[in-house]
Amino acid sequence: MIANVRKGSLNLDWNAQWIGWDRQQDVVPCFWKVFTLPQKQISSAVLQITAKGVYEASLNASRVGEFIFAPGWTVYEKRLQYQCYDVSSQLKQGENRLEVLVGKGWWKSPLPGWANEEQKKMYHQRNTALLAQLNIVYEDGETTVICTDGSWQVQESAVRFSEIYDGEIYDAAYIADASDAVTILNESFEQLIPQQGSEVRMQERLSPVGIFTAPNGERILDFGQEITGYVEVSVTAQKGQRVSLSFGEVLDKDGNFYNANYRGAKSQYEYFCCNGKQSYHPFFTFYGFRYVRINAFPGGVEQAQADHFTGIVLHSQMERTGSITSSNPLLNQLCENIVWGQKGNFLDVPTDCPQRDERLGWTGDAQAFVRTACFNYDCERFFAKWMADLAADQGEDGYVPHVVPDVIHAPKASAAWGDAATICPWEVYLAYGNKEILQNQYESMTKWVDYITNTTTTQFLWTGGEHYGDWLGLDAPSGSYKGSTREDFIASAFYAHSVSLVIKAGRVLGKDVSMYETLYDKIQDAFRKTYPTFTTQTECVLAAQFCLTDHVQAAADQLAQMVQECGVQLQTGFVGTPYLLHVLSRYGYTKLAYSLLLRQEYPSWLYPVTKGATTVWEHWDGIMPNGEFWSTDMNSFNHYAYGAVADWIYGVAVGINPVEDAAGYERVRIAPMPNESLDWLDVSLKTRKGTIRSAWNKQGESFRYTIHTPVDAEIVIAGKKHLVAAGSYIYYSPINT
Ligand code: BGC
Repeated sequence: MIANVRKGSLNLDWNAQWIGWDRQQDVVPCFWKVFTLPQKQISSAVLQITAKGVYEASLNASRVGEFIFAPGWTVYEKRLQYQCYDVSSQLKQGENRLEVLVGKGWWKSPLPGWANEEQKKMYHQRNTALLAQLNIVYEDGETTVICTDGSWQVQESAVRFSEIYDGEIYDAAYIADASDAVTILNESFEQLIPQQGSEVRMQERLSPVGIFTAPNGERILDFGQEITGYVEVSVTAQKGQRVSLSFGEVLDKDGNFYNANYRGAKSQYEYFCCNGKQSYHPFFTFYGFRYVRINAFPGGVEQAQADHFTGIVLHSQMERTGSITSSNPLLNQLCENIVWGQKGNFLDVPTDCPQRDERLGWTGDAQAFVRTACFNYDCERFFAKWMADLAADQGEDGYVPHVVPDVIHAPKASAAWGDAATICPWEVYLAYGNKEILQNQYESMTKWVDYITNTTTTQFLWTGGEHYGDWLGLDAPSGSYKGSTREDFIASAFYAHSVSLVIKAGRVLGKDVSMYETLYDKIQDAFRKTYPTFTTQTECVLAAQFCLTDHVQAAADQLAQMVQECGVQLQTGFVGTPYLLHVLSRYGYTKLAYSLLLRQEYPSWLYPVTKGATTVWEHWDGIMPNGEFWSTDMNSFNHYAYGAVADWIYGVAVGINPVEDAAGYERVRIAPMPNESLDWLDVSLKTRKGTIRSAWNKQGESFRYTIHTPVDAEIVIAGKKHLVAAGSYIYYSPINT
């Protein structure tokens, strides 16, 4: 039945009702409606749709849109995106069939992996739901509106099970024999917002680079690259035969399949075949993997060949903007790994990792990586949505959750994690020059620093909190994940930093920031008095990076000495690492910074590359030099946080930086800091103002620079400033540095 026919233009109000199924279970429901359209020309047809869960709609058996895991992951209680698709080419005169599958997604899959029984029960009791409205306008001005309402039907689909962590089970031979009436749900419309983020889409298709039998006899596919997404299988089979796959990131030291590090995430892939030629990829789950173990295949696992399988890479839509190449193949591989780390973890929200029972929007990881992220890709839209979710999830008192959307509900905020509230908007503003992100986030930024001011036990410092410390720092006492840097030191340093960013953002927006200026001076003063000396690499890094000492040079000297004394080794964790090379190069230790960057032995950025890494590891020693794993407990091989080092290559090694009072590369400062440990380095960065290129190559004892700037630039070469006009292509012939 056609719900509503009336004259007029496109109907953008919601006339539809939320519908669900009172027989909620693991099987993914398929909601459907058959309707007849008159013999008239359609001028426009738009499907407005959202779900509690993740949906995939099809109209007359063809998929609507390309958005995978629509409507995305937001703070559903406050913000639920709906999407609008132009479906005019999919409709026909006469009978049409609209079908929508609604999987559990982030709405109903139990998150996080360590959810307690009560939380699991809450997810179990939650119902998935659908809201859809198809607005059709004919050329004569008449309209038809098809809404979800009591006239819809629902039936079981072939997707028998699908959850974020536990994977999917699909029965291609399943045929529903009965349909039920839908239930009308009393869900609210208030939280509905138009699509704000970047859609997750299929981005690349990869063929396996090999298939082999492991020493223990198991049959394994190798995609040659750790990806986030799923596998498509294409096979000719008979009903009752099965394809069963398991996913893993690395092989163990004997060359066997390994995925104990997925912890509680079952990551199933069970496909029950129908008769004939067929292909399948999951609908509502994803995996982080390079290797795939074939547990079952029609005719036996030895029948499985590489060309039966395709890896499908999923991530949010983002335009690639930065690229780094150099004379060092290991460094090039590291930069590739950093880009793949971003692809693998920018799946609607910035996640810590894509494989184990987390895959959560950890705020600390995102703030560490945001600058690199905005060099590699245009992620303004991606971050704008996530920042809005951060603000939506923020407590009345300014508390910022550890993960956004918050599924952990920790009682207290952590320093350097909560600071995502100030760091991310500021970095996104610098990269793209759009004040809107600051306008939208300013209240959240101020609330965050006010939270610290109101919860600390010592005025002008942040003491008495509970923090992650310098997470995974190598100077951690045995048995601890937290490096040895004093937690109150980190907390107070980031307090100062966040207040400084509130001041900068407030100035851009023309706000009165005098209160924060006074606060900043007092924090700086208190910090200097309380922490006159530094005990770890990370303490030196933070004191110098955030200018929290009267003796910045001495802090950098001490850092350099500490690094050298332990054999040119970094000891820093999530908090110190992103700034480590910046502090060294800014205060006269460029050579040492390059030595750390290019070091190949553990611990270093290149060590995992020598071990065959194709993404960035969570631990400096995810695989130890003896081939053993660091642990099964917390050992991701796709964690982007340490990939933050790329911002030093963009911003220092070739020296491309936005100017703070001309954000978005209205003007640029290009100040390369070459070093003879590389023969050449060549970077290009596509900005909204054009593509900047900065490159250098070694010529005997000196360097030759190639710089192209589409905007006015201040170029600093070997300490000398040159002001050049937009459009200049410049070669600086050999200059001794
Ligand atoms: C996550 C991290 C996160 C951390 C908090 C881990 O389990 O994977 O990346 O930041 O917890 O300390």
